[in-house]
Amino acid sequence: MAYPYQIKSLEEYQQNYQQSVMDPEGFWANVADHFYWRRKWDKVLEWNFKDPDVKWFTGGKLNITENCLDRHLGTLGNTPAIIWEPNDPEEHHRVITYRDLYNKVCQFANVLKNNGVKKGDRVCIYMGMIPELAIAVLACARIGAIHSVVFGGFSAQSIADRIQDAQASLVITCDGAFRGNKDIPLKSVIDDALMGCPSVKKVIVCTRTRTPVSMIKGRDLWWEDEIKQVETMGNPPCPAEEMDAEDMLFILYTSGSTGKPKGVVHTCGGYMVYANYTFVNTFQYQPGEVYFCTADVGWITGHSYIIYGPLSAGATTLMFEGVPTYPDAGRLWSIVDKFRVNILYTAPTAIRSLMGYGLGPVNHKDLSSLKKLGSVGEPINEEAWHWFKDHIGKGRCPIVDTWWQTETGGIMITPIAGITKEKPGYATLPLPGIQPILVDEKGEEITGNNVNGNLCIKFPWPGMLRTTYGDHERCRTTYFATYDNLYFTGDGCLRDEDGYYRITGRVDDVLNVSGHRIGTAEVENAINMHAGVVESAVVGYPHDIKGQGIYAYVITERQTHDPELTKKDILQTVSRIIGPIAKPDKIQFVSGLPKTRSGKIMRRILRKIAEGELDNLGDTSTLLDPAVVEEIKRSRL
Ligand code: WT7
Repeated sequence: MAYPYQIKSLEEYQQNYQQSVMDPEGFWANVADHFYWRRKWDKVLEWNFKDPDVKWFTGGKLNITENCLDRHLGTLGNTPAIIWEPNDPEEHHRVITYRDLYNKVCQFANVLKNNGVKKGDRVCIYMGMIPELAIAVLACARIGAIHSVVFGGFSAQSIADRIQDAQASLVITCDGAFRGNKDIPLKSVIDDALMGCPSVKKVIVCTRTRTPVSMIKGRDLWWEDEIKQVETMGNPPCPAEEMDAEDMLFILYTSGSTGKPKGVVHTCGGYMVYANYTFVNTFQYQPGEVYFCTADVGWITGHSYIIYGPLSAGATTLMFEGVPTYPDAGRLWSIVDKFRVNILYTAPTAIRSLMGYGLGPVNHKDLSSLKKLGSVGEPINEEAWHWFKDHIGKGRCPIVDTWWQTETGGIMITPIAGITKEKPGYATLPLPGIQPILVDEKGEEITGNNVNGNLCIKFPWPGMLRTTYGDHERCRTTYFATYDNLYFTGDGCLRDEDGYYRITGRVDDVLNVSGHRIGTAEVENAINMHAGVVESAVVGYPHDIKGQGIYAYVITERQTHDPELTKKDILQTVSRIIGPIAKPDKIQFVSGLPKTRSGKIMRRILRKIAEGELDNLGDTSTLLDPAVVEEIKRSRL
């Protein structure tokens, strides 16, 4: 596949950028022209950020799977679409060509149809990183069902909340998932989740770990049996459902500053164009290259840059079931060596953790196939950036530090590999079509360079979220009401003398722990559910490997006899309510929390204490009871 919209030089980037600002509709129409549409759009863009109401390519009809599969069959039928590397390096890897993938997606799409799934129905997917996960996602898209993938690290309660919010009618899961030396009993977690989910009529279970499972009569079905049934019917084709450009493609739940995760909604046409455009340009993908993104499909990175972006571009995408440290800290490098990987896209937290093992696991691995490296999910510190550059890229691979969010659908601010001059710690420049702006507290634009502010985007882009599922008002208040006529990202940002952007981290109550997004209110709610807990306050603090750690201040009803056991009980409660990823790293028992006279917790002070900046607490004059702060400082962990 050739990509006529691939930027080839810095001059071309600048020209494209200018054009995208002066004539956004013309710019995106030119890109969208290179996709397969059943019917072309009538209007490229209609929008206002007030409601908000954003529509791209209205009147356009398409199916994203025809762009990811059917259109490649003639030229790329025998080309690997997915290379799958299992958790256990001794087990055989799998290579799935575009033709195989097409056949498997059609087959499973027919399974979904046989089980009553129709266009617009919501399907929850809770699986490990096996090819069947990608097949399940694409099969939903094929028939116009809306997928909601839930990451395997979330608890039964979290899954139940997501299923109920989306009113999903079918769940696709596995018996279990292998991750490192763990065997996660996915089906059993689903069984717990479904006790409170009457909307779910069927569960399809794919075999992976052979963990014993209970199969409920009339509700639970084996993936393999259902496939056999389609084979008995003679494997009929599965024509793609014709979707409107603005029909929902998927929901993905993410944390915000308030308690309940929200279902970010992406639509078919704009998301497809944007995921593809950003993939092809950021990584400068060339036909035949092997591309490896280490994310999990349970997060947006996996949706856009393991599945939809690469496959719509006819790329070869490598999917890895396991974790970077299993069976040893050289696993990612062994995979690069084994499959001659050309592009590696990973997270700072993984780099920092692997750095800790020294160069032993890197030496004797042939990394000469690598051409481009990428980082995503959190700010990358300079030390990790240089280690990645020198020891993995051997000084010859560009690094793209890509800033974006679940809500943006795709990469927003990033160097273009080999074209933009890079600077460690900087996401550098916006991609064409993206108009960032920094504002102060009052929403006034901060102009010029060498400035700091809150990062907003002032013009729509095709991959942006359209709503939060079932609650449009929440979408408006969270993203479009803070500042008039702007999309507010929640991130702080500085712009240096070259006009380069550096993301400094969230300015709201959202934490980024090992690249996982967690709301402080969510963790507090979970802690508060534990019997004996009166109140809690959760803040982030700098953590060498995770980027941010979770620090919880907890008030209990009475002094506990065994504080260590109570801490463990609280961790267990958080695991149950949210999942192990949200477990606090530190729990400090306190007798009170610093509050203002109006009863608001002064988190700023708690953050400072957690960071260890005890002498620098800032203005404490509005504190109701200054003695509380002194006590917290004395017993700090
Ligand atoms: C938040 C979004 C982007 C997909 C994975 C995370 C932080 C993301 C960077 C980066 C600094 C970054 C931001 C953002 N973030 N990429 N390159 N440099 N910070 O998606 O879970 O929606 O989280 O991750 O704070 O708002 P997400």
